[in-house]
Amino acid sequence: MALIKFTIDGITTEVEEGTSILNAARQLGKNVPPAMCYYSKLKDSGGKCRTCLVEVSKGSEKDPRPMPKLMASCRTNVMDGMDVKNLTSPKVIEARKGVVEFLLINHPLDCPVCDQAGECHLQDLGHEHGAEGTRYEEERREFEKIDIGPYIQLHMTRCIMCFRCVFTADQITNSRVHGIINRGDAAEISTYIAQSVENDFSGNVIDVCPVGALTDKTFRFKNRVWFTKPMDAHRDCDKCCGKVTVWQKGNDIIRITGRKDKYGEVEEFICNTCRFEKKELSDWTIEGPRKIDRASVQSQNHYELAPDKQVVPTRKSLNAENPAFA
Ligand code: SF4
Ligand code: FES
Repeated sequence: MALIKFTIDGITTEVEEGTSILNAARQLGKNVPPAMCYYSKLKDSGGKCRTCLVEVSKGSEKDPRPMPKLMASCRTNVMDGMDVKNLTSPKVIEARKGVVEFLLINHPLDCPVCDQAGECHLQDLGHEHGAEGTRYEEERREFEKIDIGPYIQLHMTRCIMCFRCVFTADQITNSRVHGIINRGDAAEISTYIAQSVENDFSGNVIDVCPVGALTDKTFRFKNRVWFTKPMDAHRDCDKCCGKVTVWQKGNDIIRITGRKDKYGEVEEFICNTCRFEKKELSDWTIEGPRKIDRASVQSQNHYELAPDKQVVPTRKSLNAENPAFA
């Protein structure tokens, strides 16, 4: 496929024709817009949350007119000579602040008791782009509690309607029983006639949920994620790839997830047996520590020295670097 030129925040690169702005930025590895609903492994995802808005200040070489509105970068393809502004656009920064404010209209600020804390994309987005306060004065949405089975906890008030879990259930399991019912602010994730989500790959909806609306019942309230030790591990599994991240506390495995990349997307989906039923160290071959690329609170307590400083510092060297400690 032909390569075309594309510029984001003043950095020019070449990507294949037909690539979305978001994926072009991901390929470049810099100035990547945030994405709460797009998920590269799920067909048709994206276009729901508006967190990935960017300014297209030049449409293409052939038609250099700017696009009149901010564009969803997950749903807009690059054109040859396109110039995009992400972090360099005051309009984008302002719009993202608005999107966070909208998402937080109904999303509760219960991070201190939410199992997703530390790996919640909305928490990160709020930290990076949010405003200090909200102007919302109306009542927040409330829902009847729905039990969706022994493994998955649904907190509807935290849902941001990204549709990822619906696409996951639709595309990787053979018996989708949950979906979105109703419209507008009455829309909610539901299992029809309270059927539980029981197929072999249903646990993946936990991994794709960007917030704490779907969490792992077997890990609930067990620990804060930044106190745990993520290790890559594998086992022979006849249902899935068997490649996972086990989250350890000492020698206990307290949670198992798919291996996630720096965008929080799983590399490969895993089955429920690996996720929920293999919690003994002897079930797994441990490969080594999982690299957490994302600037995240997950990296707390997992310190790494810069490559040029990978020697154990002595009191003398520390004092020399920082006379205040001498
Ligand atoms: S439950 Fe989670 S994954 Fe599903 S639509 Fe809501 S926020 Fe998205
Ligand atoms: S990631 Fe593009 S609209 Fe949600």
